[in-house]
This record gives sequence, C-alpha cells and structure tokens, in this order.
Amino acid sequence: MMLTKVLYYLLSITLLKAYASPSPSTTPVLRDLAEPRFFGAALNTTFLFADKKYTQLARTQFSIFTPEDEMKWGEIEPVQNVFDFTRADEIVNFAESVGAKIRGHNFLWETHLPPWVNESLSATEIDRPLKHHITTIMQHYKGRVYAWDVVNEPISDDPNATFRDDIWTHKLGQESVAKALTYAREADPVPKLYINDYNIEGINAKSNSLYEVVKSLKQDGIPLDAIGFQSHITLGQVPSSMQENLQRFVDLDLDVAITELDINLLGPANETALAQQAEDYHSVVSTCMEIERCVSVTVWGISDDHSWIPNGEVLPWDGNKNPKPAFFAIGDAFKRK
Ligand SMILES: *[C@@H]1O[C@H](CO)[C@@H](O)[C@H](O)[C@H]1NC(C)=O
Ligand SMILES: *[C@@H]1O[C@H](CO)[C@@H](O)[C@H](O)[C@H]1NC(C)=O
Ligand SMILES: *[C@@H]1O[C@H](CO)[C@@H](O)[C@H](O)[C@H]1NC(C)=O
Ligand SMILES: *[C@@H]1O[C@H](CO)[C@@H](O)[C@H](O)[C@H]1NC(C)=O
Repeated sequence: MMLTKVLYYLLSITLLKAYASPSPSTTPVLRDLAEPRFFGAALNTTFLFADKKYTQLARTQFSIFTPEDEMKWGEIEPVQNVFDFTRADEIVNFAESVGAKIRGHNFLWETHLPPWVNESLSATEIDRPLKHHITTIMQHYKGRVYAWDVVNEPISDDPNATFRDDIWTHKLGQESVAKALTYAREADPVPKLYINDYNIEGINAKSNSLYEVVKSLKQDGIPLDAIGFQSHITLGQVPSSMQENLQRFVDLDLDVAITELDINLLGPANETALAQQAEDYHSVVSTCMEIERCVSVTVWGISDDHSWIPNGEVLPWDGNKNPKPAFFAIGDAFKRK
C-alpha cells in the first residue's frame, strides 16, 4: 500500500515535469525580450480587473496597449460634443501603472460611428466635428499616448478602387485622410501618427494602393509617421513577401508596426494546427525583428476566451490563460536579435 503510494507520487512528479508549463521564474517575459521594441495587446475594459488572470498577464507581459473599443468614435463621443473618457481613461491609467505605453485607436474610420455622424451631414458639417473630435481627444491625452491610429482601414478591398467607399470619401473625398492627419499633428505634435489597415501584410493590390497613397501624402508634406499592419492572418498564410513589403514603406521614411496580430486556425485546435500557429507567430515576429524601424508587435487580445473571434483559439494564451506553443515561439523570435 505504502509502496504503491510512493510509486504513484514519483510517477505524478515525472508526468508533471514533462507536461507542466515552465514555473513562473522560467516563463519568458515577452515585454523584456522584445526590447527595444514594444510587445503589446489590445485591452478590453470588460475583462480588465474583472478577470484576474487576464489582468495579471496584462500587468507582466506587455509594454504597450491598444484600447480595443474604448477610444472608438461611438464610445468616446456618442453625442455631438459630449465626450465620455471613462473607459478609455481606465486603460490609459492601467498602462501607466505598469509602465506600458498606449497606441490610441482610432479617429477616421467608417465603423463604430455614433448615429449623429451620418450621411445627412454636408462636407462642412462633417469636417468641423472631425477636427473637433481629433483635437479634443488628443488634447485630453496630451503627453500620455505614444501613437495614434489616425486613419483606420482607408483602402478598398476592391482591387480596382483605391479608397474605401465610405462616409468619409463620400463627404470629404480622398482629402479626408490628409485632413485627419493634419488635424492630428496640429492637436499634438509629439505622438506618432499612423495609417492602420488589414490585408496589406504582403505585396498585393491593396498594399500597392496604400503604397501609392502614402507616397503621395509624403510628397505633399502631409504629416504621417508610420504604417500599422494589422496582421489578422489565417493559419499557414503569412505572406512570403511580408519583409520586402514592410521595408518598402520604411524606405518612404516611415516606422512600421504589427498592430492587431492573431492567427486564425479556422477550426478547432489540434496539435498540428497549434504547431503551425506557433510557426506563423514566429514568422511575423521575426519579420519585425529583421526591420530596424519595426517598433512594435501587438496581438489583438490576450487569451482565446476573450478574442474578437469567438472560439477562434487565435491568441498566444488559451482560454485558461496557459501559454500556447505560439507564446514560446514569440519569445524565441524576440530572443534572436
Ligand atoms: C443624422 O445626423 C443628424 C446630424 O447629426 C442628426 O440630427 C440625425 O438625427 C441623424 N440621423 C439618425 C438616423 O440618427
Ligand atoms: C477589376 O478589374 C479586372 C480587370 O482589370 C476585372 O477582371 C475585374 O472584374 C474587376 N473587378 C471588379 C470588382 O470590378
Ligand atoms: C488539425 O487542424 C487543422 C486546422 O483546422 C485541420 O486542417 C486538420 O485537418 C486538423 N487535423 C486533425 C488530425 O484533426
Ligand atoms: C469587449 O468585451 C465585450 C464583452 O465580451 C464585448 O461585447 C466587446 O465586443 C469586446 N470588444 C471587442 C472590440 O471585442
């Protein structure tokens, strides 16, 4: 009886050693490994403080945060000239308390608009509130935000069009992008000003469109500091031209950043898929590491239970906040500097 117990104990210890994740002291701290770059996450105030494990990961693993929704137009100025900074402030205060920076997100976008910003407005009627919106928010956060996604998703998915067919191009034409960037620089000259978009990671029709837009903005002297590559990527589909693509934007004298990274399995997890996901994360982070002016890698969420993709298992931590192979792959990619 006694012997059985001892054997059982020894066996459990061995099994635990083989399968348990490393003890806290040996768990990589991605924010440290990423230096001098930033490692970031989108934060959602619904879970901040309410989910202790989520908050603990946020406290320890990241050096930059993007509010997932809390700074979007409909959240922060739901009624014209009535600003509600409550939830956005929670994230900014939290970031400062853990020594992390903020990527502000975002100003000019067709989605998450409040009802009062709609097609009934004339060009002038929408231009003034746009400037007021950007100015008020940037002044509220003056000195506290590292970068702003001033323009979000401006490029059309139609390969035959350049700009997205949305309220901004309807009302202000292509000038909307230049206007937003100019208003942002006037409001606060310090933060880095970004255009942020998806499906522009590799060289393709959409990134070619963006490249031409950016080149002409730079030629016209419009203030623009950086491009955000969202990088919502499908399993096994990290574009082979990603490094070359990011580099051509750097060659226009811009910073680049990975801003919304996740790797979608398109199905339930299994060992093969998780290994491929780890490889894909490794590949994206390594691409950033190869480029001197790639300043940050941000994942869009922290753990699979709180992703914007339900049941997607797209993030580096699983629903129990345990590190997945992707987590160790990110650490490994950051280490090879
Ligand atoms: C559209 O915007 C105008 C001006 O802000 C506002 O008066 C009107 O109520 C809005 N329409 C809807 C359906 O919300
Ligand atoms: C875009 O143009 C190509 C040819 O240049 C054409 O084959 C295609 O149908 C067009 N697509 C759309 C959505 O108009
Ligand atoms: C594992 O998951 C991938 C991605 O969803 C899928 O294509 C593959 O068939 C799965 N393999 C097994 C053995 O279930
Ligand atoms: C934040 O979490 C809440 C609660 O799950 C959800 O309704 C909201 O859509 C989340 N925000 C984003 C951007 O996913």
